[in-house]
Amino acid sequence: MCGIVGYTGTDTAKDILLAGLKRLEYRGYDSAGVALERTDPAGETHLDVIRRVGKVAGLESELEHVDDESTCGIGHTRWATHGRPSVANAHPHACCGGNIAVVHNGIIENFAELRDELTARGHVFGSETDTEVLAHLVEEAYAQTHELVAAVRKACECVVGAYGLAAVCADEPGVIAVARKDSPIVIGRGEHGSYVASDIIALIDATRDVVVLEDGQFARLAPEGITYTDAQGELIEPEVTHIDWDIDMAEKGGYPDFMLKEICEQPRVVRDTLVGRLAPSGELDIDELGLTFEELDLIDRVYVIACGTSYHAGLVAKNLIEGWARIPCEVEAASEFRYRNPIITPSTLVVAVSQSGETADTLAAIRDARIKGAKVFGITNVVGSPVARESDGVIYTKANKEIAVASTKSFIGQIVSLTLLAMLLGQVKGKLTTGQVRMLFRELGDTAAQIQYILDSQREAVHEAALACKDAPSALFVGRGMGAAISYEGALKLKEVSYLHAEAYAAGEMKHGPIALIDPGFPVIAVTTKSPVYDKVVSNLKECEARGAKIIALATEGDEDIKQIADHVIYIPPVRDAFSAITASVPLQLLARDVAVMRGCDVDQPRNLAKSVTVE
Ligand code: M6R
Repeated sequence: MCGIVGYTGTDTAKDILLAGLKRLEYRGYDSAGVALERTDPAGETHLDVIRRVGKVAGLESELEHVDDESTCGIGHTRWATHGRPSVANAHPHACCGGNIAVVHNGIIENFAELRDELTARGHVFGSETDTEVLAHLVEEAYAQTHELVAAVRKACECVVGAYGLAAVCADEPGVIAVARKDSPIVIGRGEHGSYVASDIIALIDATRDVVVLEDGQFARLAPEGITYTDAQGELIEPEVTHIDWDIDMAEKGGYPDFMLKEICEQPRVVRDTLVGRLAPSGELDIDELGLTFEELDLIDRVYVIACGTSYHAGLVAKNLIEGWARIPCEVEAASEFRYRNPIITPSTLVVAVSQSGETADTLAAIRDARIKGAKVFGITNVVGSPVARESDGVIYTKANKEIAVASTKSFIGQIVSLTLLAMLLGQVKGKLTTGQVRMLFRELGDTAAQIQYILDSQREAVHEAALACKDAPSALFVGRGMGAAISYEGALKLKEVSYLHAEAYAAGEMKHGPIALIDPGFPVIAVTTKSPVYDKVVSNLKECEARGAKIIALATEGDEDIKQIADHVIYIPPVRDAFSAITASVPLQLLARDVAVMRGCDVDQPRNLAKSVTVE
């Protein structure tokens, strides 16, 4: 959950590293640093390690005083795991001799024993991090190999854990050694040199042809070119992936923050996720399914495993899979699933949902499920990500790069993808006719225009609602059925971006405890869209109203009665209950974002969080 970047070539390294780190900041922003090669008047090369606590902007100010000469360096933006955010714990980490520096994304699980061994051999540690052992291990190995990539390879043999790492050595000017296991690394060659990063987004200005390094592969970047080797040191020729998305996706494009931009992109996400999914015959076409219809027909139990927002997409899917395919479906936090002994048979389908495709708990749960014999289907936003690679089949959510830490457009992409999967299961099981699938598919596509309508017409209503709850100490989100599922997401969104405490409850549960919280003015945000349980939700709200709650209702357009109990109403167009989660999520995302802005929060980079959670 850190970002690493490296460059060697003919341009000014510090500028390229800073630009890359800014793009990678979504991966962590507790501290940042670079190691730059510098040649002294005598022609000797040294490494200057410059680190700062806080965001990349702080490092940028520090680097203003550094001259532009260096053309090789590595950089890092950190989300703290081992050791608090401090200069000493910031990357890069240097070895005792100061001639080797390392940046790392991942976790070195056996770092404590390695550290003891290295200390016993005379190494002196300057940080509390797990990463620093790598710098000392490479230092020891380099004394034998005198070749950086070979030294990194030797160091990696001692390490248990996950790493995407880049190392430089003053004795091998212009060379960056790169290694990968379980943490993303992409490498590219541009007109002016060679580049490495944790994410394509940091390379895309230089090249659109990248190598996604595989586990156990190594690379040697030099100004004149890149070579790749395997774990034995044999030369390999990895596959080159061409990136066809645009850099605009990594820029705010006139929006004040990425979160708002990404919320506004959701109509496109719906459309793109559906493109080509319905064959003229009326069959759903999920070409990356990886499972035959015969195999799907045998499925008798579904687990959706995911974390955070992706877990909430799973709650929506449960309603659809059970409703349409009549297959029992459980939704479970991946972090729980992996540590219990779920009932899995060869006819169990595990659906792993992950925007990043690299969430550690979700990946571990996938591996566990496969060992136990389940078929695993991935839903992810990142092509070639570990979730995609380790699943039998995959649907890509087509949200494109999501930069704000809070998931919005990827959530909508996940729900649309899960809806397709539920429809497919319904079709394969013979519970949905081709005619029904066609109709559902058309209505699902209509949600793109409905989201656009909400974005165009309800901003003011959302703003008023945000003003009404921005100073509250806490808020409750309630709903039933689909409304309950997205209430959980509404509460998560609000607390993660605005730091306003929020909880969600199935509305019928209020009287079993949470209603005790309500006193005059307490905000209750209720999903009261027209559905089979509409009257029940309204009754629950009346109980809140009777105790003085300030009610913000998400209601179906045309519902005038709701104004009798609600202080604020946000309208969404009439939509089939099965698709209401797609449309009703949008005002909840806007509400969270507006409250966060009003409270002066950093909407895109909330405190203590990172976009990809690659640690347990
Ligand atoms: O990349 P993933 O979808 O696996 O990430 C799961 C969660 O970490 C993520 O959804 C998180 O809850 C978001 N910050 C919520 O906005």
